[in-house]
Amino acid sequence: MALPACEFKPGLEGIPAAQSAISYVDGTKGLLEYRGIRIEELAHKGSFLETAYLLIWGKLPTQDQLEEFKTDILYHRRIKYHIRDMMKSFPETGHPMDALQTSAAALGLFYSRRALDDPAYIRKAVVRLLAKIPTMVAAFNQIRKGNDPVTPNDNLDYGANFLYMMTEREPDPIAARAFDVCLTLHAEHTMNASTFSAMVTASTLTDPYAVIASAVGTLAGPLHGGANEEVLAMLEEIGSVENVRPYVEKAVANKEKIMGFGHRVYKVKDPRATILQELAEQLFAKSGHDPYYDIALELEKVVEEYYGQKGIYPNVDFYSGLVYRKLGIPDDLFTPIFAIARVAGWLAHWKEQLGVNRIFRPTQVYTGLHEAPYIPLEER
Ligand code: CMC
Repeated sequence: MALPACEFKPGLEGIPAAQSAISYVDGTKGLLEYRGIRIEELAHKGSFLETAYLLIWGKLPTQDQLEEFKTDILYHRRIKYHIRDMMKSFPETGHPMDALQTSAAALGLFYSRRALDDPAYIRKAVVRLLAKIPTMVAAFNQIRKGNDPVTPNDNLDYGANFLYMMTEREPDPIAARAFDVCLTLHAEHTMNASTFSAMVTASTLTDPYAVIASAVGTLAGPLHGGANEEVLAMLEEIGSVENVRPYVEKAVANKEKIMGFGHRVYKVKDPRATILQELAEQLFAKSGHDPYYDIALELEKVVEEYYGQKGIYPNVDFYSGLVYRKLGIPDDLFTPIFAIARVAGWLAHWKEQLGVNRIFRPTQVYTGLHEAPYIPLEER
């Protein structure tokens, strides 16, 4: 049967790829909801693990459900020595996102049973991935410095334990809370490149570790999760508040993108950027000002002057790097931290996809030749 002619949209802009009840964005109002609950509510009143549960199982957990979930995750935090040994053979100069993608895929070697119609299997996979991804990020960070990975600390909750595995010191409660809020803010964001990648992979009914590994690879690019790392490099390049305007003018003249600004959906300031900015200010009030924050504020002002009419405002990546840096996290771990959080959203979409699965098999608009001659090698 001939399909009706359809318009090709580069980047599939505006084309629904799924029906989903997980999250909602209104890009003109600057609204983001997870399962109907506004992101501000979850960031200010909830925790990351509660949010992950909400995203994946559709409802906020009861106290007992949350306790059980936390206990299961605590139990599965450690990674096998085979995976640690594998990481020791990675080049220490390799990007931590590549290390994470490889390690996430390697989990499939150890937990190869695939029972996608068994809720107990699904739950175990969710728990394992949420539990082990932070341990793998922190382990590679230690290994590349020549250290042994820090064993997870059973007395610390999810976010605090990650910061502990980075430094071997128990984090200050304000820092731990700020980090947990960052994870909540990054946990899910409707249909985006890495989520789509996860869903396409999921739709083949492969194992969940392959689903997460493919999403990690997609998140790594500078137009997606990789932008947060580039924002700080840009602020450093600008160097001073006085240099902001000439920098923007040059970018405008050369039609260069300014990292941390613009979004396919938001045409106003990303609500997550507003919360991250508040967090940055709280951290600066506690442990000292960051001169790059002044540059960031000026940049936001000048970019709005030039691009506000086009709907280009700070996105989630603009202030996150300043927060992470204040928490002592190296720049090239910013995107892996985005992945730690987004695993919750990817798993929610994986589970939703399995419930209604049909393999993704879009079409294309062919623009090549027909009936082309085969020219023998010696005549070319
Ligand atoms: N700086 C300057 N101009 C921009 C920017 C920017 N950051 N973003 C978009 N524009 C302009 C762009 O040049 C284009 O102008 P024109 O119509 O005159 O050619 C117009 O706005 C539309 O841009 P687009 O690239 O076609 O929009 P898109 O929806 O395909 O891209 C985006 C969205 C996020 C990839 C893009 O805004 C961008 O590259 N931003 C910088 C990288 C960044 O901060 N990425 C993080 C995204 S949020 C988190 C995540 O998804 O991981």
